[in-house]
Amino acid sequence: MNVLVTGAAGYIGSHAIRRVRRAGHHVVALDNLSRGHRQALPADVPFVECDVADRERVRAALVQHQIECVMHFAAFAYVGESVGQPLLYYRNNTAGTLGLLEAMQAAGVKRLVFSSTCATYGEPASMPIHEELPQSPINPYGWSKLFSERMMRDLCGAAADFSCVALRYFNVAGSAEDASIGEDHEPETHLIPVILQAFAGVREKISVHGDDYPTPDGTCIRDYVHVEDLADAHVVAMERLKPGFAYYNVGIGRGHSVKEILAAAEAVVGRAPPYEIGPRRPGDPPTLYADASKIQRELGWRATRTDIREAIRNAWAWFERRPRGYAGAAKDRP
Ligand SMILES: NC(=O)c1ccc[n+]([C@@H]2O[C@H](COP(=O)([O-])OP(=O)(O)OC[C@H]3O[C@@H](n4cnc5c(N)ncnc54)[C@H](O)[C@@H]3O)[C@@H](O)[C@H]2O)c1
Repeated sequence: MNVLVTGAAGYIGSHAIRRVRRAGHHVVALDNLSRGHRQALPADVPFVECDVADRERVRAALVQHQIECVMHFAAFAYVGESVGQPLLYYRNNTAGTLGLLEAMQAAGVKRLVFSSTCATYGEPASMPIHEELPQSPINPYGWSKLFSERMMRDLCGAAADFSCVALRYFNVAGSAEDASIGEDHEPETHLIPVILQAFAGVREKISVHGDDYPTPDGTCIRDYVHVEDLADAHVVAMERLKPGFAYYNVGIGRGHSVKEILAAAEAVVGRAPPYEIGPRRPGDPPTLYADASKIQRELGWRATRTDIREAIRNAWAWFERRPRGYAGAAKDRP
């Protein structure tokens, strides 16, 4: 298939591109580089530098490259930023997705794999989180993604031949095994890269947001899926798309606490990470992990890189090579 990947220069999109190509598909990359890195893109992939909301340019790219399926990663994804600037999130994520859907409709492209998130569930009353629990986000980021899902669901209802799958990821971790690409957000808020930045000396220490939660060691528990497993899930979901709207959790089905991640990082790197216990962060549920049985049952995908040390080892190889991410390595393309 000819596949357009939006948000291709970002963390997950850049990993997905490689996986989609390995599966034998042709990729066209699209990104406005607002938060991504040109160097994360393979040199031989056609690149469209444009905003997903730019209907006419996206439509033209879809037609020019005879695209058959879109993988839509492009979005802003900071919960805190979304609380402070909700309209930015509705503009970029929700209106951006609307523009993309309109461009797809105008170009006759009828297949979409969408990056959704466990943030669409909010604070569920029970754990693990399965797909039929109510979706009730607690921040604009989660709403911006839920509204996007809603548009896809309604479009699939109106156009019988439109196929869309929303993959609701939990926390994503790790990087490519060859350390050629990795996670590089500015600012970085994800736990594992934050720890590794402290090891690499680009931040002084890690602040643990509360150790008085009702969990065994008092710190928050999250479900970390390896980015390569997540990329596999996208390929499987794309290849098995059927008309209609489908939705799946993507996680490993169990959680690790912040203190467990710190211990795993110490085991990988061989040093204790410098950390301090800070106050709780507003809106952080104590425990979030997926019931990921539906995607296994229906699509045959399950996480295979479930030892968190593997994700940390891969990410550490990247951070050792590039403590400041892509910065300063502008000419060095994988
Ligand atoms: N990283 C996670 O743990 C996680 C968890 C759940 C869901 N997600 C979702 O996965 C997707 C990718 O996340 P990521 O961590 O790779 O983020 P990222 O910031 O690394 O990548 C996002 C990319 O999208 C691009 N982009 C943003 N808005 C755009 C627009 N309007 N037009 C064109 N390009 C645009 C950015 O330049 C960037 O390259 C996002 O949709 C995010 O909501 C991520």
